[in-house]
Amino acid sequence: MSNLEKTLSIIKPDAVERNLDQEIKNIFLNNDFKIIKEKKIQLEKSDAEKFYKVHETKPFYNDLCAYLSSGPIVVMILEKENAVLSNRELMGATNPKEAKEGTIRKKYGVSIDKNSVHGSDSPENAKIEIEFFFKD
Ligand code: CDP
Ligand code: MG
Repeated sequence: MSNLEKTLSIIKPDAVERNLDQEIKNIFLNNDFKIIKEKKIQLEKSDAEKFYKVHETKPFYNDLCAYLSSGPIVVMILEKENAVLSNRELMGATNPKEAKEGTIRKKYGVSIDKNSVHGSDSPENAKIEIEFFFKD
């Protein structure tokens, strides 16, 4: 049965800084994702704190929010059959050292914090994250 989904993808500061945004967008397009909307923005730290609120009790929360707001990011709505899971597979594991060959994080990730991309982890969170960045 068809299950066309939308998911939220972010190209993080480490990748934008290395001018990898077009290359990473091409990977999505070559894997049958449609880029429905996109924008390049820089977050305030307070916005990053809202976005990553689920992680507020984690030891890495402060550094994570400082990092995500440290430079421009590219935020995209991606659409595909089973987009959420498909994007998580294409991204690879959170730690680039553990990411499989051929994944975005394996190819471009520098470290567990500078891992180049974000992707929603469930259809429910995809809706919340899309609304966070693209409410209109
Ligand atoms: O991004 P993903 O959903 O794969 O991982 P997460 O567990 O939701 O963590 C969010 C982000 O926090 C990761 O992408 C990492 O950049 C960062 N993180 C970190 O800096 N140190 C950790 N030990 C775990 C995650
Ligand atoms: Mg996550």
